[in-house]
Amino acid sequence: MKTLTKVLLTSVTVALLAAKWYAPTFNAESLRGAKVLVTGASTGIGEEMAYHYAKFGAQIVITARREKVLQQVVEKCLSMGAQKALYIAADMASDSDPEKVVDFALDQLGGLDYLVLNHIGPTPFSMWEGDMEHVRWLMKVNFFSYAQMTWKALPSLEQSKGSVVVVSSLLGKLTSPFVAPYISTKFALNGFFGALTHELAMKNSNVSITTCTLGLIDTESAMEKVKDVSHVPAYPATEAALNIIKTGATRQRELFYPWYTYIVTVARDFFPDVRDYFIQKSYSYTP
Ligand SMILES: *[C@@H]1O[C@H](CO)[C@@H](O)[C@H](O)[C@H]1NC(C)=O
Repeated sequence: MKTLTKVLLTSVTVALLAAKWYAPTFNAESLRGAKVLVTGASTGIGEEMAYHYAKFGAQIVITARREKVLQQVVEKCLSMGAQKALYIAADMASDSDPEKVVDFALDQLGGLDYLVLNHIGPTPFSMWEGDMEHVRWLMKVNFFSYAQMTWKALPSLEQSKGSVVVVSSLLGKLTSPFVAPYISTKFALNGFFGALTHELAMKNSNVSITTCTLGLIDTESAMEKVKDVSHVPAYPATEAALNIIKTGATRQRELFYPWYTYIVTVARDFFPDVRDYFIQKSYSYTP
């Protein structure tokens, strides 16, 4: 191994260990009775987060589009120990639904401690063929609604010294083929919430923002997309969900899960040609 590579690997390892060592410890009691709104909670990571919050005894409002499924998740949350669990069906592509959902949560819970933004719209896994309508729609769902809901919830979060938790992706830090619209929305999220983090700090805000960089997670929708084309290992949704909740509750700026997303993010711009070669080679594609 080249000395440079060794030095780099060692520094990254030391940085990771130091980060783990100094990370504030999570206190499960802090979530008892906490007022939480989780979006995209009918399935996948959002559903798992709802169950974890339920076990910690939180008061939860969940949202997604499918009422029937939300109903089932709410029932399960109550049986798992949630102090309160309610749902509201909503379409995040709509101009008004995102605010309606925040209003519902504020009314029903009497305030908010955690705004957990996690929903995404379905998007094809394929080369981009110029479908602008889809890009516009996905931007509304995956990005505009996040900004809108955050702004609506901020006054209440200021009062409660609450948190905004944004579920993003390694694909908000690194580009890849076949997912141009999706990647655009995740880069937009990282940019927007990065700027907002600065602004809140400069205003001495009480609100913390946590941005989560996730790798491939074994949700049904993700597995369906990549099963024939990618061999990246998938990590469990329930563990991803728990890590997101802990990072939010300890008011840390960023979560990287699994660990390799941190290495990739740090090393991203070292050797761009090598990086792009491996990204393209990691997919089986014949023109
Ligand atoms: C932070 O919370 C305190 C109450 O604990 C409040 O007086 C103050 O205005 C809040 N800060 C902002 C920026 O809203």
